Amino acid sequence: MTAASKIYVKTFGCQMNVYDSQRMTELLAAHGFAETAAVEEADVVLLNTCHIREKAAEKVYSDLGRLRQVKEARADAGRQTVIAVAGCVAQAEGAEMLRRAPFVDLVVGPQSYHRLGELLARAKWERRGIVETGFPEEDKFAALPTRAPPGTVTAFLTVQEGCDKFCTFCVVPYTRGAEFSRPVIDVEAEACRLAEHGVREITLLGQNVNAYHGRGPDSRPWSLAQLIARLAKLGDLKRIRYTTSHPHDMTGDLIAAHRDEAKLMPYLHLPFQAGADRILAAMNRKHTAADYLRLIARIRAARPDIALSTDIIVGFPGETETDFAATLALVEQVGFAQAYAFKFSPRPGTPGATLCDQVEENAKLDRLHRLQDLLERQQTAFNLACIGKTLPVLFARQGRHPGQLVGRSPYLQAVHTTAPSSLLGDVVEVAIVGAGPNSLSGALTRPEPAKA
Ligand code: SAH
Ligand code: SF4
Ligand code: F3S
Repeated sequence: MTAASKIYVKTFGCQMNVYDSQRMTELLAAHGFAETAAVEEADVVLLNTCHIREKAAEKVYSDLGRLRQVKEARADAGRQTVIAVAGCVAQAEGAEMLRRAPFVDLVVGPQSYHRLGELLARAKWERRGIVETGFPEEDKFAALPTRAPPGTVTAFLTVQEGCDKFCTFCVVPYTRGAEFSRPVIDVEAEACRLAEHGVREITLLGQNVNAYHGRGPDSRPWSLAQLIARLAKLGDLKRIRYTTSHPHDMTGDLIAAHRDEAKLMPYLHLPFQAGADRILAAMNRKHTAADYLRLIARIRAARPDIALSTDIIVGFPGETETDFAATLALVEQVGFAQAYAFKFSPRPGTPGATLCDQVEENAKLDRLHRLQDLLERQQTAFNLACIGKTLPVLFARQGRHPGQLVGRSPYLQAVHTTAPSSLLGDVVEVAIVGAGPNSLSGALTRPEPAKA
């Protein structure tokens, strides 16, 4: 590719895809690609896709339909466009994708991103669709270039990939493969580099992040709690978060870290998926509703103010009104600061897709709305309860209004405050004066002048 090559990247799906897109963009910068926000001027268009629900996967094909027209218009003007599809749809569909969309030039799965430069060059010269969806032996993270961060205050850092849990509704074990944890020193080196470049908060990512068991400096497997303790020693790093966790892997040392490690933020995303035990069993979740409640009690005992978040599915095959009532009851009992609710979407290749007793679409929608109403009420109540408190806010970006900064509270709420840009990257005490369903507003508190 020439030095003037431009790339347009669009990312769907989870935070791990956001991280992967950043790493791919950085890798391609070393191959002479500059990022563009205008698809018409892109020599390479990269879609990083998500397969988790049908809607997400179908969105990719509607985008591809539009991209075909862009590609044809550019070809008429004598310019080649390479269309590359990465991510979980690429992994799940492989060669099938070229049959549905023959104008796609490259289909690349999440384990081959370190070879993207070479694969794009081949796609350009060979002018036939290439499919690369193997699970190679080499460590893609080690082969990706050392990270050149964009100078932001908060960053994602993938520490674990893949999943061995095989919940019966979920494609992740198939699209991301078996669990793999990066070695502690590799994670530490990346975190160090991010901190050197101004990053003050890191969110450690993994599809099943609390199952982390990367090789430690002593050559033994380290837990997520040990990794967090190590990263907390980096002076410039002020905050650490992690997501997504499975209740089964919420170990005692990780719970204790929420009590003992000041840099670990009091926020936990812990999906429970359903409230009825027979549905949890059919989902292969490996926990009951009572197990979940006991776990929440232990976590709250360690860190009473922790903000809890979750994922819930309604309308899993066989779910009755009584089962759904158990989901609502569990939400009532826990009280969430934030949560995501989804209608069950049968995914090809997963056991859940072929179960009989699929729930009718209208019933799913009705349950989704009732659940969302309850979750919204809880989220609003959690935000309103912050009014009158003073919270430490990490300012991360300029707000929409002049003179305004936006940051996050420890509980991950967005906080809007009038403040000078010199405070970007600082953790500052903010008095919370207002709350809406999705954010807080606050005012800087000034320390009392020291008494003479
Ligand atoms: N690894 C995480 C998240 C996986 S995907 C975990 O274990 O929770 C994010 C969320 O999407 C899941 O928690 C689940 O609530 C939802 N999801 C996954 N597959 C789904 C499906 N087939 N239909 C509807 N929602 C689904
Ligand atoms: Fe999917 Fe379950 Fe693994 Fe989460 S734990 S990624 S829901 S299989
Ligand atoms: Fe989607 Fe793959 Fe993430 S299916 S949620 S992009 S792991």
